Amino acid sequence: MDTQKYLIEHKKNLLEISEKFGTPTYVYFEEILHENVQKYFDAFNNYGKFKLVYAYKANTNIEICKILKNLNVRADVVSAGELHIAKHIGLNPNDVLFTSNGKTDESIESALNFGCIINIDGFEEIKNIDEISKRLDKKPKISFRINPEVNPHTHDKIATGVKESKFGINIRQAIEAYKLAREKNFEILGIHCHIGSQITEIEPFIEETKKISNIVIDLHEIGINLKFVDLGGGLGIDYLHDGNYNGLTHNLLANGIVPLIENLNKILGYEVELLLEPGRSIVGNAGVLLTKVLSIKRTPYKKFINVDAGFNDLIRPAMYDAYHKILNLNDLSEGDEIFEIVGNLCESGDILGRARRIVAKRNDILAILDTGAYGFSMSSNYNSMPKPAEILIGKDKKVKVLREMENLAALIR
Ligand code: LLP
Repeated sequence: MDTQKYLIEHKKNLLEISEKFGTPTYVYFEEILHENVQKYFDAFNNYGKFKLVYAYKANTNIEICKILKNLNVRADVVSAGELHIAKHIGLNPNDVLFTSNGKTDESIESALNFGCIINIDGFEEIKNIDEISKRLDKKPKISFRINPEVNPHTHDKIATGVKESKFGINIRQAIEAYKLAREKNFEILGIHCHIGSQITEIEPFIEETKKISNIVIDLHEIGINLKFVDLGGGLGIDYLHDGNYNGLTHNLLANGIVPLIENLNKILGYEVELLLEPGRSIVGNAGVLLTKVLSIKRTPYKKFINVDAGFNDLIRPAMYDAYHKILNLNDLSEGDEIFEIVGNLCESGDILGRARRIVAKRNDILAILDTGAYGFSMSSNYNSMPKPAEILIGKDKKVKVLREMENLAALIR
């Protein structure tokens, strides 16, 4: 589905929402969420043991998590908080993977008590989990996060499997880690890696799959038979909407990975479960941030549109120089002036869109596209700004408030 077109079709609805619930406000589209999940299941439907896991960090609005759970999507959680949400909405512990490079005792205890899979990130963690599990009299279910030393060709800040990365056990030490785990009272279930985010080429995934497969084979040879291979998330989305997107698709991803996993199965003599744990490609284009124009400023050097959202609501442009398409829902014409679309925080870097050809006047509502992932979940109260509301447009087209806008009382609580 062309989400830009979808948004324009829902223009009236969105303007009503901004009127009724105020701005800035995140709006999510259930229909697009469903479609995004279906794309994965369709592309991987020839692999019987494919499991889709959702990376909660992208958007942990509880309603979004529930919708995904009902679509048979599992959970990748990274903290005691995300674990709590997964537990709260009734996910089966075996469908939850707890990944983090720094696990608190409290989060390890919750994971053990819940019975989910703990994805071990380092050698010392083997010892920590062993000690805590003995104290609680639990048998941990585990996998290891391996750093496969693969360059995903993406922004530096979201490349996670390069050799200098803080994440995981280096590929050269993988066998040693499994051997150590075998000496403990652990149930060894799988292997995991996540090489990065917003990846638009197949090659890094191929390299990752080959390297991980080799480890699985080496482990098989020493009698450790893994049940699952989790290749992480990372599939990129089309932020530009310029009609020229030739990045990676679900089908290309499946066509690249599945034959390699089938080869692996032949060598092993059994079928592994194949897990992917996307975040962005599930929720990214299913969300939009609505913000109101506060004023227009024309200086001798630049022109600015001041809006009521800032990097407290959406940090991606400031943090990763990320591009998000911005549409004026009150006036879609292009005009001939070029503006910087800026937030109202006291920071020069509070720019939501650079050099945009757009027409706007006070009180117009701008829609910042593709903000369903790493939007609200990375928002903050910087400059004592209340957090935005979150609204869902359901499949039945009904508008549902998922979270009201924070009020001033919350800021002094
Ligand atoms: N699995 C693990 C272990 C991860 O660390 C991540 C994302 C994912 C899965 C999901 O990756 P995705 O499919 O969303 O690419 N805040 C950044 C993205 C950070 C990604 C962190 N890890 C952004 O706004 O671009």
